[in-house]
Amino acid sequence: MFSQLALLLAVALPSLARPINDTLLDEYDYIIVGGGASGLTVANRLTEDSSVTVLILEAGPSDQNEEWIRVPYFMGNDPSPPAEALSGHLDYDWNFGTEEQTSLDGATRHYPLGRGIGGGTLINGFLWNRGNAGDYDEWETLGNDGWNWDNMLQYFEKNEKFATDVTASDASGYSIPATDSSVHGTSGPVNVSFQGYFYPATQNVYAALNELGVPTDSSDPNNGQSAGNSFLPMSMDPTSKTRSDARRALYDPVASRDNLYISNGQFVTKLNIENVVQPANEASVRTTSRGQGDHPGLKLNSLVNVLSKNVNIFNLMPVGSLKDLFGLRKVKRSPPRPMPKREKKEKRALPNVRITGVEYGTDAGATRQNITARREVILAAGAIHTPLLLQLSGIGDESFLSSMNVTTAVDLPGVGNNYQDHFQIATYAPYGNESFPVCESYGADSVADVSNRNEFYSSQTGPWTAGAPNGVAFPSLKSMTTNYSTIASSAQGQTSGQYLADNLDDTVIAGYEKQKALLVANLQNENRSQLEILNDNAGHLTYSVMRPFGRGQVRIRSRNPFDTPVIDPRYGSNPIDLQFFMEALRFNSRLQATDAMAELQPSESYPTAAQVADDAQLMTLIKQGIFTEYHPTGTASMLPLDLGGVVDARLKVYGTQNLRIVDGSVMPMIPAAHLQACIYGVAEKVR
Ligand SMILES: Cc1cc2nc3c(=O)[nH]c(=O)nc-3n(C[C@H](O)[C@H](O)[C@H](O)COP(=O)(O)OP(=O)(O)OC[C@H]3O[C@@H](n4cnc5c(N)ncnc54)[C@H](O)[C@@H]3O)c2cc1C
Ligand SMILES: *[C@@H]1O[C@H](CO)[C@@H](O)[C@H](O)[C@H]1NC(C)=O
Ligand SMILES: *[C@@H]1O[C@H](CO)[C@@H](O)[C@H](O)[C@H]1NC(C)=O
Ligand SMILES: *[C@@H]1O[C@H](CO)[C@@H](O)[C@H](O)[C@H]1NC(C)=O
Ligand SMILES: *[C@@H]1O[C@H](CO)[C@@H](O)[C@H](O)[C@H]1NC(C)=O
Ligand SMILES: *[C@@H]1O[C@H](CO)[C@@H](O)[C@H](O)[C@H]1NC(C)=O
Ligand SMILES: *[C@@H]1O[C@H](CO)[C@@H](O)[C@H](O)[C@H]1NC(C)=O
Ligand SMILES: *[C@@H]1O[C@H](CO)[C@@H](O)[C@H](O)[C@H]1NC(C)=O
Repeated sequence: MFSQLALLLAVALPSLARPINDTLLDEYDYIIVGGGASGLTVANRLTEDSSVTVLILEAGPSDQNEEWIRVPYFMGNDPSPPAEALSGHLDYDWNFGTEEQTSLDGATRHYPLGRGIGGGTLINGFLWNRGNAGDYDEWETLGNDGWNWDNMLQYFEKNEKFATDVTASDASGYSIPATDSSVHGTSGPVNVSFQGYFYPATQNVYAALNELGVPTDSSDPNNGQSAGNSFLPMSMDPTSKTRSDARRALYDPVASRDNLYISNGQFVTKLNIENVVQPANEASVRTTSRGQGDHPGLKLNSLVNVLSKNVNIFNLMPVGSLKDLFGLRKVKRSPPRPMPKREKKEKRALPNVRITGVEYGTDAGATRQNITARREVILAAGAIHTPLLLQLSGIGDESFLSSMNVTTAVDLPGVGNNYQDHFQIATYAPYGNESFPVCESYGADSVADVSNRNEFYSSQTGPWTAGAPNGVAFPSLKSMTTNYSTIASSAQGQTSGQYLADNLDDTVIAGYEKQKALLVANLQNENRSQLEILNDNAGHLTYSVMRPFGRGQVRIRSRNPFDTPVIDPRYGSNPIDLQFFMEALRFNSRLQATDAMAELQPSESYPTAAQVADDAQLMTLIKQGIFTEYHPTGTASMLPLDLGGVVDARLKVYGTQNLRIVDGSVMPMIPAAHLQACIYGVAEKVR
């Protein structure tokens, strides 16, 4: 009787969720900057203790259940974006562009980055993996006690609600190994499950990879041992087959907690640091700026001139809607101010500054607000915005900060450096054999639309339950080319700091040298991934470098927080990274010529076999074709101070009493994986 009554009450009670943008308190125990993957994880865990209060400030919008966000087929891209849109992610993207990539073709690159309650998990490609065990063990080798695979596993598991919902026939048909339940969680917040549709061409691609010596994973691809091909699970609700994003997994279920507040549309402009006064903002942006860039998406035609159909893994627009999307606006921005030569200084003790809270506002013209943090400020703004906020607040390389007239609070030369990303190139070999279904036939405008839509909503099956990247491989370099040892020795022969940016502090260079030794060793290990191959079932295979040797830089363009950031990935700055692509594209040519691919009748279009055979032509194509795989990391690395570190092994910023960073910025070396699961794991570990 009692329990029935309780049930009745529970059902009858109105939802007590505190609305977004509820009136704020004057102060909070914790203020979290950024409501993406990492920020919402930490907010959720902190508010389990009802005695602490937490505020999340998120700059971006609150989503409206858009079909193109929810349904896997669309991969977070509006299939018919409004004319003025810069990418299919609409307002959920910062629409930044990189600086001119001088080691490539000199052009800038569109740089998609998540924006909104849920951050990158609103628009990402659903793919769910963690990388190799060694990727984490290396974090410990670099000087971070307790950061290794064995220790991380409990946090990966804590975040997951894993479901193995593949039929026995799909499992055997698509070589999906049995789930290893010892490496998965089943009661965490984020749903992980399998697509309900498989493109048969994937079988050919797998068999082709096997022919060339890349193995199919015989065990669970998330057990830390994977260096072959496999189907990755997806961040997806197993019942509705819709996106399991950070908002739905980590915020919505606890929105009724009395101690949790969130405001969106609020851009944090500065950390307030006791006894540190910063000069006024520069008037370098229009007053309506909300900090977004105006860089249009990739110009597919110039990238891959054979793309007749507008389907793509990297900014998927099903069927015929991309044509007018690009080149609408010119990018207007001032050039970056140079990095000054760092003054040699006596070693001196770090300060121990206290962060009192943050300043924020809706746009450059709006009145700013202050809010107080009693205990800590936690940065979860992602690997681009976190270093910017540090620099604007006086935490960074003193020589650079003073050249910008920013008052230095803590001299930390690692801020904005050690930037690492995965970057990719898309090949194209459309299939002549029309009996193989290709993903481009299933979009919103296609003839098949009505039936696919109906199937999705009535039985949660069919092509709309799956993204285009249907089957992936994370091969070792050794399994792809006999040239691996030549490449390893040429990497080993590079002198200290060679190919890094100018004017870096010695500690940053020392940190890189330690990483480089690990990278070189990796190249000769058949169990460690060096590249990723994504198959989109429309004739594209992308090749991405997982463990880059080059290092980039992120910094403020001016002393106005609403100005666009200087994002310089420095793609190709280390020639070894370009060498990986040479090997990858030669491999691709061999792959298209395998017996297993013959059934698909691929026609090698980009690059052509002739282009691949000519080293100079191939290098030119590579330099034109490289673009981001959306995985910035490293810009506030967890490393010892004498290796250019910004945070310690508790993720606390050196020289501060109460500032922590929990997002992708802290990864000292990028894992060979898509990053959402890795970032959730890092955020779960913060204590
Ligand atoms: C197009 C795309 C595809 C991707 N595909 C995959 C995939 O298939 N699989 C995968 O695992 N990963 C994928 N990723 C990467 C993954 O989504 C990110 O690595 C992850 O979301 C990063 O988590 P984070 O917490 O570090 O930052 P984010 O999730 O980006 O969150 C940072 C948040 O902070 C907010 N913010 C920034 N500055 C401020 C400020 N000053 N004030 C207030 N708020 C601020 C931002 O708006 C954002 O919401 C993809 C990413 C993109 C962009
Ligand atoms: C996870 O899946 C369950 C079962 O389908 C569903 O009830 C829940 O809403 C999902 N949560 C998220 C965050 O996707
Ligand atoms: C919260 O307020 C901001 C700023 O006014 C606004 O942009 C945003 O849409 C509001 N969010 C919701 C969910 O109403
Ligand atoms: C916020 O506080 C800082 C110092 O604590 C002060 O310099 C600044 O002017 C304040 N800003 C607003 C908008 O009150
Ligand atoms: C810094 O201040 C000096 C002296 O006022 C001024 O000449 C210079 O232009 C300023 N630089 C920046 C980047 O604001
Ligand atoms: C190894 O590199 C050379 C050029 O340096 C190239 O000609 C050859 O094709 C490469 N081998 C393989 C297996 O790709
Ligand atoms: C790779 O893994 C296999 C199987 O576990 C093992 O036999 C081999 O020694 C490993 N190779 C390296 C270089 O660690
Ligand atoms: C095309 O694919 C079908 C179905 O798999 C197959 O039967 C046929 O042999 C293929 N055609 C060619 C020319 O390989």
